[in-house]
Amino acid sequence: MTTDWLKLDSKHCWHPFTQHGLDSEPLPVVGAQGAWLELADGRRLLDGISSWWACLHGHGHPRLVQAISKQAEKLDHVLFAGCAHEPAARLSAELVELAAPLTSQASPSGSQEPLARAFWSDDGSTAVEVALKAAYQSHLRNGESSRTTFIALEGAYHGDTVGAMSASEPAPFFEELSPFLFHVVRVKPNPEELAEAFQELEGRVAAFICEPLVQGAAGMKMYGSSFLKEAQGLCQKNGAFLIADEVLTGFGRTGTTFACEQAGISPDFLCLSKGLTGGTMPLAATLCTESIFQSFVSNERARAFFHGHTYTANPIGCAVALESLRILREENTPQKLNHIGERIETGLADLRENPLVKDLRRRGGIVALELQSENSGYMAELGNRLRAACQELDSVLLRPLGNVLYAMPPSCTTDDECALIVKAIKQIVVPMA
Ligand SMILES: Cc1ncc(COP(=O)(O)O)c(C=O)c1O
Repeated sequence: MTTDWLKLDSKHCWHPFTQHGLDSEPLPVVGAQGAWLELADGRRLLDGISSWWACLHGHGHPRLVQAISKQAEKLDHVLFAGCAHEPAARLSAELVELAAPLTSQASPSGSQEPLARAFWSDDGSTAVEVALKAAYQSHLRNGESSRTTFIALEGAYHGDTVGAMSASEPAPFFEELSPFLFHVVRVKPNPEELAEAFQELEGRVAAFICEPLVQGAAGMKMYGSSFLKEAQGLCQKNGAFLIADEVLTGFGRTGTTFACEQAGISPDFLCLSKGLTGGTMPLAATLCTESIFQSFVSNERARAFFHGHTYTANPIGCAVALESLRILREENTPQKLNHIGERIETGLADLRENPLVKDLRRRGGIVALELQSENSGYMAELGNRLRAACQELDSVLLRPLGNVLYAMPPSCTTDDECALIVKAIKQIVVPMA
């Protein structure tokens, strides 16, 4: 077994969201194909969570591999300040086109502006960071300096950079960092609460940010689309932007290309990452309207948007994202994911009778099983037991969110593979009851 490098990992690597004093050794992954991860000891694990919700069509997809290698040969990287390249130009246009139905559906009268521009960054956190900064600064550019507050949802998770952490629920991850985070007003996904917040903060709200329909890290919490429709109306009425963080929900995860589609809303900012490249390369886009972009356009340099990362709009990432979008359209990935979700939900349905099961819920290809627990949430005691049980599985990779076990496999997952996921979840839950 070629695991000599694991010793190096253990000595030199610091893993994310990992308690090195508690968690068992990481899985030595040496390859991945389709829905499967291959381990150094020859075991194969079905990637039941799409490698942190990113792997969209399956690992090692030949068309994505080819897109990466073709682009790497032609143009690997170039700075995006003062330079342009075809993959970013085409991808920006394609994303704008993909998002266009949101506006025509949400606002047939034309009162809501379509998304027209893409700002590029590297991951979900930076996509959110860009939206928060640009939202506030766009108001500033328009002479509204009092709009210094953001409203977010309770339980939100928007990433690990300072702005994204501020917009996220402080507990359990970010409480200690509160001296460095800015104040954000939090509401439940309830129109009355949001309306009250807008009323109290009259003229001071820069934007309302939300994960539409599914709050991922909160434990795949799901809420109704009618709230989002009302939220859009409240944002418009109060002159605030609506930021939709579709880093998790984008590209078909909820059964439609974007979750906003089901809610009939068209945001002012749309944050995308994870599935954007099919889960192959780190890349993120923050789409916004033309008027937001124009608010930064001036003959004064100081009015520009001073933001940019070294790898902004990396050509390889953009090229593979273009190919991933082609696959999404040709194969109707949202529908495939929806079918997968249905299979898993149906397979798990008899667990609803299990005394340990509090809730079984689904949106598209995301299926979540919430278990009874004295304390719920990410730090739930039960979470440790679930995590240990998941690590014992010899066929499927699952990673609970506290007392919530969930599945969100890639779109190549077959019915038989769905059955394996169902079996693995039952293998964990049934003996625990
Ligand atoms: C809704 C949402 N926004 C933002 C992020 C942050 O993305 P990243 O981990 O790529 O920075 C995540 C990550 O899970 C997420 O689920």
